[in-house]
Amino acid sequence: MYKGFVNQPDWDALDWTEKDFLTIGQFGSEQILYLLDQALEMKGLTKKGIPHPFLKGKVLGMIFEKASTRTRVSFEVGMKQLGGDAIFLSAKDIQLGRGETIEDTAKVLSRYVDGLMIRTFAHTTIETFAQNASVPVINGLTDLHHPTQVMADLLTIYEHKGRLSGLKMCYIGDGNNNMCHSLLEGAAAVGMDLTVASPQGYEPNLQIIEQAKKTGQNNGCQILFTHSPEEAMEKADVVVTDVWTSMGQEEEADERKKAFHAFQVNRELCAFAQPDFIFLHCLPAHRGEEVTSEIIDGPHSVVFDEAENRLHAQKAILKVLMQ
Ligand code: CP
Ligand code: NVA
Repeated sequence: MYKGFVNQPDWDALDWTEKDFLTIGQFGSEQILYLLDQALEMKGLTKKGIPHPFLKGKVLGMIFEKASTRTRVSFEVGMKQLGGDAIFLSAKDIQLGRGETIEDTAKVLSRYVDGLMIRTFAHTTIETFAQNASVPVINGLTDLHHPTQVMADLLTIYEHKGRLSGLKMCYIGDGNNNMCHSLLEGAAAVGMDLTVASPQGYEPNLQIIEQAKKTGQNNGCQILFTHSPEEAMEKADVVVTDVWTSMGQEEEADERKKAFHAFQVNRELCAFAQPDFIFLHCLPAHRGEEVTSEIIDGPHSVVFDEAENRLHAQKAILKVLMQ
């Protein structure tokens, strides 16, 4: 058992009752730290080439209503490394795409597979899906949340900085997207300060940021919002951004380019951060828009460690939910 997280309770006594993994906010700090602890263990086993077939014979069904490189491949490889298998289901090819209800789809698939991962649009779709599935359901991205990505982000920050609580993170860009919302919940859960900077009209979901502020207060950190990217960047240890136009918003791309113009993560803006800051981006990235190539391809960037950690963080989630 990895003992890197100090002052944590006895992990073996952790009471895990949640069936699904839909948001980070649905879990307490101990559960999030436990999953990260498990992820470090998974990564260690993988790197040493030690077999770890915790999900031998189990199958994960994966429904995608949007494109994916990292999520699809890391879940599929993760299941195989855990001794199980995964089935890719494009929403276009299954009856869901022809109007079969989400309720019926969830009930039917639950009779075949041991777990389901879904990438969809409305967050309510995955909530309905989870309510009707008798097997664990994992959120592979909705318009509102991207929790498995943020688990990988927290793991990456921990590996590079040696801690989570006490650090300052800033998120520059679209405050009202899935990444920002899951980062708000993730930072608050692990006691990391987070300041979000977004242009007028692109502020985070009010309910999510208000809850994150409350959780943060309980966990000794500050969750803040500003319209000034310089203010958010001030002395940041961790700098995060995401695309200005998320999947499904393509029609707004031109309007968004104008609105986000002053929110590019570049050398001038990063001068406000700590000299040893790390840069994260969930990818795919648009160099020259939300981030310059100098930053994302430069010495502060940890984006490929972050992408790799999707695999390890998700294996922990799969093991805890499906074993
Ligand atoms: N970061 C991420 O979720 O990437 P994909 O869209 O490629 O899965
Ligand atoms: N916010 C982005 C994340 C992609 C992984 C999107 O939803 O398109």
